[in-house]
Amino acid sequence: EKLKVVVEKEKVSAETRIVLRNVGVINPKNIEEYIARDGYFALHKVLTQMKPHEVIEVVKASGLRGRGGAGFPTGLKWEFTAKAKADQKYVICNADEGEPGTFKDRLIMEGDPHSVIEAMVICGYAVGATKGYIYIRGEYYGSVENIQKAIQDAYEYGFLGKNILGTDFSFDLTVRLGAGAYVCGEETALLESIEGKAGRPRLKPPYPPTHGLFGKPTVINNVETFANIPMIILNGPDWFKSFGTPNSPGTKVYSLVGNVVRRGIVEVPMGTTVRDLIYRFGGGLVGGKELYMVQTGGTAGTFIGVDKLDVPLDYDSFAKYGVSIGSGVILAMSEDVCPVDVALNTMQFFEHESCGKCTPCREGTRLAVQILERMSKGQGKKEDLETLKEIAKVTQEASLCGLGQSINVPLLSILQNFESDFLAHIGAKSCPRGVCEFVTPQ
Ligand code: NAI
Repeated sequence: EKLKVVVEKEKVSAETRIVLRNVGVINPKNIEEYIARDGYFALHKVLTQMKPHEVIEVVKASGLRGRGGAGFPTGLKWEFTAKAKADQKYVICNADEGEPGTFKDRLIMEGDPHSVIEAMVICGYAVGATKGYIYIRGEYYGSVENIQKAIQDAYEYGFLGKNILGTDFSFDLTVRLGAGAYVCGEETALLESIEGKAGRPRLKPPYPPTHGLFGKPTVINNVETFANIPMIILNGPDWFKSFGTPNSPGTKVYSLVGNVVRRGIVEVPMGTTVRDLIYRFGGGLVGGKELYMVQTGGTAGTFIGVDKLDVPLDYDSFAKYGVSIGSGVILAMSEDVCPVDVALNTMQFFEHESCGKCTPCREGTRLAVQILERMSKGQGKKEDLETLKEIAKVTQEASLCGLGQSINVPLLSILQNFESDFLAHIGAKSCPRGVCEFVTPQ
């Protein structure tokens, strides 16, 4: 029933579904329904017809890039691990989807768990790993249930365990649960967590592909990244590159949230514009309201105005146009949403989730919240804007991990693109959107 809501018929017809090909179509708890739709055929092909390095060549040639947000080339990552010499290697699926507004990985795991498992076994074969972990966000009860059932069935059908499909390749897969910390989605904090330590990030480099779990070479890929793999193996890299843009082939799964009429998940080719996502797929804004602001890419993503709606989203759009794709959130906000209030809310999130290990992130987020709180009460000072920009710069340059380093993206983009709102709060002591309640200092 839940899946039906997001897979409305009208959307299915307009989408391009590679990752979500089975979601809402098959019973995710029935392995035979997955097999009936070519499930585990890619694994069979890989184990019986391809050498490990050939698998990596195909993934490299496809141009697939990491769908967790950073867009790192997947084939290259696999190659780093394949080339590293070690007695043990690991494959990890990062399913600790914690970016507010993002729920694409949940839908993939709930709707098509075997596609992720199949891809992980393929990856294990390609890089020489025999053990895998799926680290799932603890609150994702449905995902945990469906992945665990799928793992159990995959063992029974000989797709996991010893001598997979009668070959001499063996691979074991285990589920680990997160416990509600956003920072554990950061890959090195996730590694610490699996190792049984507090989930705090490590310094990078070295990177996990060569120095990962228990110090061993480890491929860590996002759920959506893995879900692309079986189709790439079956249909080839040229087929995959026929979707999307030259530098960002394939599709992207977006979470449409905020004031849009149809909130939910859509899969479209890379290069689709923000306008199309909000109006064609999201059905525009609730109550026919005017769109004022969009956050693209998640809480760590960019705030843009309506002047950037026609930017085609892919992994180049941040460098080219200052619009990030990140984990694929499109948060649409109408004219009665206040950027100062939203900036405050965003910084409160980061302050709360900062693990506290490094000073720039711990103190920078705290200071940003203090300033924005004052501003939202009409007690902002002229120099506050410069201080906020300074915080953005310092946290980006000096923070230990992606959490602190990425705060500058939302903070700078909202300050730049909605400066007039901030100035009105400071100078005229008014909230143009009518949201903030000003308090006269005692
Ligand atoms: P990153 O750029 O440091 O790394 C991306 C990936 O490439 C990592 O797996 C890393 O190990 C690998 N890598 C990078 N350089 C490498 C090298 N020289 N050798 C070997 N491997 C290398 O980015 P990070 O911090 O891992 O991720 C940041 C992204 O995460 C942001 O874009 C943000 O959108 C996204 N994010 C996603 C969330 C979600 O819930 N999906 C939550 C929070 C952030």
